[in-house]
Amino acid sequence: MSPERPMLVAGNWKMNTSLDEALVLAAGVGNLTVSGIETAICPPFPWLVPVARAGREHGWQIVVGAQDCSAHGNGAYTGETSAAMLQPWCGMALAGHSERRRYHHESDALIGEKVRSIAGAGMIPVLCIGETQEERDADQTETVLERQLGGAFRAAQGADLNKLVVAYEPVWAIGTGQAATVQDAAAATAFIRGWLRQHATSLVGTTRILYGGSVTPDNAAGLFAQPDVDGALVGGASLKAADFNRIREAAAALATREIS
Ligand code: 13P
Repeated sequence: MSPERPMLVAGNWKMNTSLDEALVLAAGVGNLTVSGIETAICPPFPWLVPVARAGREHGWQIVVGAQDCSAHGNGAYTGETSAAMLQPWCGMALAGHSERRRYHHESDALIGEKVRSIAGAGMIPVLCIGETQEERDADQTETVLERQLGGAFRAAQGADLNKLVVAYEPVWAIGTGQAATVQDAAAATAFIRGWLRQHATSLVGTTRILYGGSVTPDNAAGLFAQPDVDGALVGGASLKAADFNRIREAAAALATREIS
C-alpha cells in the first residue's frame, strides 16, 4: 500500500437506523481501532451531528461522511445541504451514488459539481460510478465508466482533487448478494486507474479506488488483494458492526502490500 494511498473502508448506511441504532452501530465501529487503514461511516443526514459528537467525545479514529452534498453554496435549494454545512461534522461526502443517479436523475455534470463543492470544503469527495446490468450485457462497461469519469471531471475542473476517492460500484452488484468477481473488479479498477493516468495524471498515485457492491467479510480479502482496489464502499454489511469490522481487518491485513 502506498503511504499516500492508505486502504479505505467506508460504510454507507443509506436510509437505515434509528438514532439509537446509529449510535450503537457507530460505537461498535469506533470502539475498535484498526490501524494502518482509514475507516469511514456514512450515517443518514440527521445522525451526522450526534455520531460526529460521539466520535469526538470517545476519540474514535473514524471519518464521518455524508451520503450526498449539494452542488450549491447556499440559497433557495429546499431540502439540500451544502458542503459548508457538512464540513464541521464530516470529513467525507459521497457524490453520484447509483441510487441518487437512479431515483434523483443526477447527471454526470451535477455530480462533478458536487465533487467540486465537497473538495472545496476540504472534505474527501467519493465519486461513485458503475454500469447497470443492461450496460454490462451490452459490453458497455468501459464506455460508461469513461463517460461518468469524463463528465464529472469536466464539471469539477479547477477543483483540488488531491483527496479524491473513486468508488466503482456496478449497479447489478449493489444489494443483490452477487458481488463482482475478483477478475471483474480488478479489470474495472485497472481501467479507472488507466483513465486517471491518461486524463488526470497528477492524481493517479493519490486517488483511492474502492470497490462496492455486496462486499462481505467473506469476499473482502479477495477483492482487496487486487492491485487497483484500495478499499471498499460497503452497504448492507456495514449495518452490522461485527461484519464491518471484519472487512476493516481484511483491509488491514493487506496494509503492507506493495504499490502497484
Ligand atoms: P451493498 O454492499 O449493500 O451491496 O451496497 C453497496 C453500496 O451501494 C454502497 O454504497
